[in-house]
Amino acid sequence: MSPVLVAFEGVDASGKSTQARRIAERHQALFAFEPGDTEFGVELRRWVLDGETVMNGPTEALVMLADRAHHVAQVVGPALRAGRSVVADRYVASTLAYQGYGRGVDLAALRAANDLAVGPYRPTLTILLDVDLGVANERRSGQSRDRFEGEDSAFFARVREGYLALAAEGGWALIDGSAGEAQVAREVDELVADLAW
Ligand code: TYD
Repeated sequence: MSPVLVAFEGVDASGKSTQARRIAERHQALFAFEPGDTEFGVELRRWVLDGETVMNGPTEALVMLADRAHHVAQVVGPALRAGRSVVADRYVASTLAYQGYGRGVDLAALRAANDLAVGPYRPTLTILLDVDLGVANERRSGQSRDRFEGEDSAFFARVREGYLALAAEGGWALIDGSAGEAQVAREVDELVADLAW
């Protein structure tokens, strides 16, 4: 049976990283994340997140996509080819939500670039942890802020709405991320229980 690729998506502080790590461990899958999961990616992540380099939307998107193409070539693709399932903390949809809906970069161009970056390695299942902006802001308060976390609430509203539109269109699993960690964990467990890990 072929391994699975499960992608967790959501706005910053949606709780997706916690769930992605937990599920990877539980199913002995590889935990992977973007941006910055390779040596090259660490450099790209620093450039794109530190906020010091002024970047327009397409530039930002292409940095994320370069990170993804390299990550898939070096980490995700080899794991799947070796028969190991992968749990990704952010993947193709992050670029559509943040750079597409958030920054207004052309969605069709981003989809084509995503195809180039991931080739055949599309997610088996995408899980969106949806939280409203109030919950996300509360969870984020006090944390240091990178380029995205310093954005205003209108930006995050666009990203969240974008995610919801993508989820509806793509038939993703949608979970209320404000429900509390234990409840979210139960729902995630149920969703992934029957996958061919
Ligand atoms: P991440 O490390 O997942 O941060 P967090 O754990 O706070 O969610 O992602 C860092 C930031 O990068 C996050 O604000 C979302 C952004 N991002 C994009 O804008 N586009 C992308 O394609 C990806 C992968 C991430």
